[in-house]
Amino acid sequence: MPPLRRRARMAPHRRPKATRPPPRPKARLRARRSQEIMRHAPVLLAGALALAGCGKAAPPTDTAASDAPAAETAAQATPAVAPTAAMGEQIFKRCAACHTIDKDGPNGIGPNLHGIVGRPVASHPGFAYSGAMKAKGGVWDAAALDIYLADPMKIVPGTRMAFAGVIDAADRQALILYLEDQSK
Ligand code: HEC
Repeated sequence: MPPLRRRARMAPHRRPKATRPPPRPKARLRARRSQEIMRHAPVLLAGALALAGCGKAAPPTDTAASDAPAAETAAQATPAVAPTAAMGEQIFKRCAACHTIDKDGPNGIGPNLHGIVGRPVASHPGFAYSGAMKAKGGVWDAAALDIYLADPMKIVPGTRMAFAGVIDAADRQALILYLEDQSK
């Protein structure tokens, strides 16, 4: 009876499939989910800390970030938190194509902005300002910068600063904190 014997010999090949341990998808899913929660936990915690810090007191605009304790600064690095000079440094990248900020830095397409907060308008030596900027007058205090940087070409019609503006008020606040920091 050769056919029977052949079948018997083939059977062991199929057996391994059946002996494999049955998969336990639910357990694996649960494990993955708890891993995910662990991964997000620090973010959630940071968010909670940030909110707590926010509710405590709205810091006045003239508070330099360097005065803030390190832990608070870290919490503020998450969005929807009080602006800081560190955040402003990132915003300044939009200006850096035309402006330097370091002390005695060269004028570029725009004038060097070191010490701009508190500096009389159109007063940086060696820069050829437009007639419009020269005619503006006044001093670049935080309020004047906030108004100007929101929409430069509207606030100083005829300015040669071809820049659309920093639309977000919190971004402007952070930027001005950074400019103040760089004025020390
Ligand atoms: C495309 C180049 C360009 C960019 C980008 C730019 N600026 Fe300017 N900026 C200028 C020029 C040019 C002037 C001089 C304007 C004039 O004389 O009318 C100027 C002038 C200024 C002034 C007045 C300076 C003074 O001495 O009175 C301030 C303040 C200023 N820019 C801030 C900024 C900030 C902050 C940013 C980024 C958010 C920025 N600018 C982005 C070109 C630029």
